[in-house]
Amino acid sequence: MNLPSLSSVNVFGKKVIVRADLDISEGDNFRLKSLIETVRYLTEKQARIVIIGHKGRPGGVVDESLSLKPLATEICDLIGFPVSFESESQITLRENLRFNPGEESNSDEFARQLAGSGDIYVNEAFANSHRAHASMVGLPKLLHHAAGFHLLKEIENLSRVFENPEKPVFVIVSGIKKDKIEMIGAIKTRVDKVLVAGRLPEYLGEDYLDEKVIVGKLNPDKEDITIQTIELFEKEIAAAGTIVLAGVPGKYEDEGHKLGTERIFKAVSESSAFKIVGGGDSLAVVSTLGLSEKFDWISVGGGAMFEFLAKGTLPAIEALLQ
Ligand code: 3PG
Repeated sequence: MNLPSLSSVNVFGKKVIVRADLDISEGDNFRLKSLIETVRYLTEKQARIVIIGHKGRPGGVVDESLSLKPLATEICDLIGFPVSFESESQITLRENLRFNPGEESNSDEFARQLAGSGDIYVNEAFANSHRAHASMVGLPKLLHHAAGFHLLKEIENLSRVFENPEKPVFVIVSGIKKDKIEMIGAIKTRVDKVLVAGRLPEYLGEDYLDEKVIVGKLNPDKEDITIQTIELFEKEIAAAGTIVLAGVPGKYEDEGHKLGTERIFKAVSESSAFKIVGGGDSLAVVSTLGLSEKFDWISVGGGAMFEFLAKGTLPAIEALLQ
């Protein structure tokens, strides 16, 4: 994929809008860290930087509890440079884009308004690249644009799942978000096996028949996979050449329901396969179990990662290619 890289754009002294992944929960700065390289590079090039992003789903109205203001200090601490909030300076953070209904409706007017604050647009928001919103697909139509350094690494690493991968390729998809089910059909055409856990077997039906899809069985309370499923998945994992772990197999935050998640995450981390993990809950588990170093790539995206693997592209990636 020939995405235009930030390093090939003349940003010296320019005003650069950086669309970032700012949808984070307290105490979790993994997504913020993915911004560091791009922002530091831009400061070295004496660019003025406007950071934009969203948090939560305020539905187009102002919700103070979802303000991005507290992140100005966090970003400043990470990059070692002052960051002002909603006032002009070398690095400015703007308020939650989703306070304006034009963001999610991808309004031309809102995109034009955003474009007014810069000369160049950089997408450093891989985790939101499956959303065809104004700041993701509208803005790059209006400004000279490029992919941020972290976004390029996401694409490069995730592409390894379908470009000359170590075989067999297994995807373990779990969690509670029903929309992942819709992607299973597409993803199974690109990989060797899809293992399904979390709440997803409920939606698919445990007796769902497909030679490439292994649907885990759930305990009667539906909060974790059964011990037989854990053992079956462990056996499969041991044979994999490439593994993607997308979502958590059980309600791991409950003492009585964390066995499936712990065993599957450990089994994947101990495998010699090329391994990728992504998504908010998965990252929390990886960090709690101290497994971060064991993975070849940790994606900032959950839904975005899964959709990229299913389709080979995303709306905001296509927008960068135009
Ligand atoms: C995320 O935080 O996972 C992405 O930014 C997408 O958020 P959304 O599911 O609220 O669109």
